Amino acid sequence: MDILLFGGSFDPVHNGHENILRTALDYKKFDKIIIMPIGSPGHKPSCKAPFVVRKHLVELAFGDIGVEMEVSDFEGNSSEKSYSYITVDYLKSLYPDSKIHFVIGADSAINLHKWMKWQHLAQNVTFLVFDREEGENSQLLKAVDNIKQYSPDTVIIKNKVFPVSSTQIRSLAATGGDITGLVDRKVQPVIEKYSLYSTDFYRKNMGTARLLIPLMLREKRAQHTFNVAKLAVELARMYGVDVQKAELAALLHDIMKQQPDSIMLHRARQSDIIEKIDRKPMPVLHGFAASDFASREMGIEDQEILMAIKSHTCGRRNMTDLEKVIYLADMLSEERNFPEKEPLLALARQNLDKAMEQALKDSINWLKEKGGAIDTDSYEALEYFTALSNGGTSNG
Ligand SMILES: [Fe+2]
Ligand SMILES: [Fe+2]
Repeated sequence: MDILLFGGSFDPVHNGHENILRTALDYKKFDKIIIMPIGSPGHKPSCKAPFVVRKHLVELAFGDIGVEMEVSDFEGNSSEKSYSYITVDYLKSLYPDSKIHFVIGADSAINLHKWMKWQHLAQNVTFLVFDREEGENSQLLKAVDNIKQYSPDTVIIKNKVFPVSSTQIRSLAATGGDITGLVDRKVQPVIEKYSLYSTDFYRKNMGTARLLIPLMLREKRAQHTFNVAKLAVELARMYGVDVQKAELAALLHDIMKQQPDSIMLHRARQSDIIEKIDRKPMPVLHGFAASDFASREMGIEDQEILMAIKSHTCGRRNMTDLEKVIYLADMLSEERNFPEKEPLLALARQNLDKAMEQALKDSINWLKEKGGAIDTDSYEALEYFTALSNGGTSNG
């Protein structure tokens, strides 16, 4: 089987990428295309859009390319810096009898000797080197001669420059400029509708979250999330809490809820002190994982927002009003139905602290009845709010 491997940041995918793919498909018949968007393993996002969003846009853009196409999660799920030789080793293990044709640009070919384990990589792939320069490129020819010692079938493909870059699209999209003709027709409305590259913090992140929710959560959980956001906004207004922070925290609070345990645990452990995380019951970890997702994938650094996402299931001492709003909105969202709900909702609209005390009591009792593990943070939170309502200090 001949596999075409095409990697990059795809932030966002654009018609220049499509042009390269089509040129490669004209050059040779491939059985399968694997698109490999890079992940974001560092503390700060290396891309403006989260991996899941970039992957979604690539699927929209190349879904009709006419050859079996897969957008791989391999680098996106990796918590370490990805090297091409590791990615290719992985693909070789999946497709041992296949030939992997790896798309790279002329600059990469010229600098390939600086790549980690480049000879090993070259032995496992055939490079399709895309060169935009017309005429002879002697530096490239020399580099390719060197590469051919390890990857003898490597070829140079001359393709006309398609004058577009992801940077250009991002800066156009940031200012509401026209990106027609620069990106796929299915991609453009998504970038625009969800303000994916807006420079306004809340426009960008709320838009991105609204796109992510149906991509990462099943229908019921997605509906719950939107209901939580609605109630969080209502309570935030009532209590003078920053409404935008409340809405954004609510939109992201459950974003990791339906990810595999291994990914959730990994993200949770990155979000806080590991010893603290390891003492916590599994069901509360999705909040911590979501906070890690918000900071690493979306670049959200606002500690109040991150804290509200973290504590939404377990609570804690000294919760901020924003945290209380998210905790209660999560517990009392429209679709929830339990006997104590209506009085608790009425209390939440009257007094945040008293509602927190009652909410914590109810949820601890419910967990006890169910035999579920209870986080010590929840007991401490209950103690704290009980002391408050008995006239204790708020520093408990
Ligand atoms: Fe949750
Ligand atoms: Fe929730």
